[in-house]
Amino acid sequence: MSGIKALILSGGKGTRLYPLTFTSAKQLLPIANKPVLFRVIETVRDAGITDVGIVVGDTAPEVMAAVGDGSRWGVRVTYIRQEAPLGLAHAVKISRDYLGQTPFVMFLGDNVIQGGIRHLVRMFLESEYDAQIVLKEVPDPQHYGVAELENGRIVRLVEKPREPRSNLALVGIYLFRPPIFEAVEAIRPSWRGELEITDAIQYLVEKGYKVYPYIHTGWWIDTGKPIDLLAANSLVLEELEPRVEGYVDRDSALEGKVVIERGAEIINSRIRGPAIIGEHTRIINSYIGPFTSIYHHCEIINSEIEHSIVLEHCRIEDIPRIADSLIGRRVVITHSPMKPRAYKFTLGDYSQVGIL
Ligand code: TTP
Repeated sequence: MSGIKALILSGGKGTRLYPLTFTSAKQLLPIANKPVLFRVIETVRDAGITDVGIVVGDTAPEVMAAVGDGSRWGVRVTYIRQEAPLGLAHAVKISRDYLGQTPFVMFLGDNVIQGGIRHLVRMFLESEYDAQIVLKEVPDPQHYGVAELENGRIVRLVEKPREPRSNLALVGIYLFRPPIFEAVEAIRPSWRGELEITDAIQYLVEKGYKVYPYIHTGWWIDTGKPIDLLAANSLVLEELEPRVEGYVDRDSALEGKVVIERGAEIINSRIRGPAIIGEHTRIINSYIGPFTSIYHHCEIINSEIEHSIVLEHCRIEDIPRIADSLIGRRVVITHSPMKPRAYKFTLGDYSQVGIL
């Protein structure tokens, strides 16, 4: 579709996901063994969009190496460098030349949404709205940007209100036409020093531009915090089609929705879905419980893991039970071989360990 572009935000700091994102982009953390950012690119591609701008910050080299020119997805990617994470409205401001007069969908690069945005994009293009904001009913609106509606229109936006007047939260997907550029030029940085997209949308409302909601009913998850990453992983795993492309020996059992990727080996083990085992990972004498993703080139030996994400090149051996965990790249967890018996750690900054 040539009448609309996508702007995916993949800058930011990712402080809430330290240490996993200390040195790398949070948008590249995998959900069900596929980076969140790849899922976002697929979502906009599936809505018929081929021109994709990606806003990048300090982690630009890593994002660019992973995504390339977008041809893998059949899209054309243009990178837009943001010198510092100065806010979502700042990201729009610096993308003005790229976006020109074309309507665009802005999508946060660390969000996952059920069911895609195809319908929403079509609806926006057929409308004369200046902006359309995706909202979702949430039980705890005080933690979000909240929209108030009147006669089907958005009339007010409040960032994390102490006494919310609605339960409709902004989910991180926005459709805009060119008046948004006037708005991002007019607003001033907030108390936290960022140009806030909620302030820009509020400006549109106050100037009489047409700002409408789109209420999303499926799930939506912002993967900004570890607990959300595990929740998103569970939801996406439940939607996977089972497939076995690796080797499963006769002494192993796969139950429920299980994906075994290419080159993986399952030896004398039980995998209870929903779960995914990545390429060239070996699971030996182990139990992998539901809602677990093991990424590529790992070795899990004589261990049990449930409701967890394990990133690439890890080795976990002789650990009776791991649950609710996020384990970074190239982590080794084994028993201490030497006396005196003790826990022996080499942990990076901001690591968290729960000992029995
Ligand atoms: P946030 O999660 O709000 O911010 P952050 O990435 O800095 O994370 P943290 O609060 O843990 O430090 O950002 C939402 C998305 O937008 C995320 O994908 C990063 C991106 N982003 C930008 O690209 N530029 C920006 O200026 C900001 C604030 C965020």
